[in-house]
Amino acid sequence: MIDAETRLQLLGDLWEKWRNCDRCGLCKPVGRPRRHVVFGGGNPCARLMIVGEAPGEEEDIHGEPFWPTAASGDLLDKFLASFDITREDVFIVNVVGCRPTRDDDPRKNRPPAADEIAACKERLDRIVEIVDPYVLLLLGDVAKSAMTRERKSVTALARDPDIPAVKAYTRGQSLEVERQAVVTFHPAYLARNFDMSTGSDTHLVYLAFEKAVALVRAYEHLYFNAPMPAREDT
Ligand code: URA
Repeated sequence: MIDAETRLQLLGDLWEKWRNCDRCGLCKPVGRPRRHVVFGGGNPCARLMIVGEAPGEEEDIHGEPFWPTAASGDLLDKFLASFDITREDVFIVNVVGCRPTRDDDPRKNRPPAADEIAACKERLDRIVEIVDPYVLLLLGDVAKSAMTRERKSVTALARDPDIPAVKAYTRGQSLEVERQAVVTFHPAYLARNFDMSTGSDTHLVYLAFEKAVALVRAYEHLYFNAPMPAREDT
């Protein structure tokens, strides 16, 4: 088990390896420059890791996932705040590190393609291995499909009244590792269909965050008390 300093060092080394990545076509998008590989960020000892889909325009500009003033990042911060959590308490990452845009209109985002997801999986797996979270919160279908073997759709999982914990799999240095995960709608979908009423999809996402936080808290009492205690060697 590793301490915070070592985790930071390992993440820094990994960042050096990926910061100029050219493993897939997202490094040279048609009609615009790639500004940043959006590696992921947050607490290197986070118990909760949030996995999104891909950087959008703001994330490409700033180099950070779920940029706080963009619609999805703003919503993510609001959900976290409902549980007295900030992004410094969690680790946020995307399935792919570079912004996918349409060749026929580079201003428009598109979902990452299978080869782009495959090319970036080693980065995602290694980040999960280093941070070693207890629970993954998977936002949307790309994250669900990249990390689980669930046949049920995001909609079916997110609308299941039990908010089920599913299994996520990542490849460690030598072994495949199984972790608990909660699957829910992507905030970008909510931003387009905003409705705060009880039973709405927004409410279901709130319940998914609540479930993920409860799973973490079940592991470690009072873990999310502010200020977040540093994780000691475990
Ligand atoms: N911003 C991100 O960083 N990831 C997403 O999945 C969406 C917006």
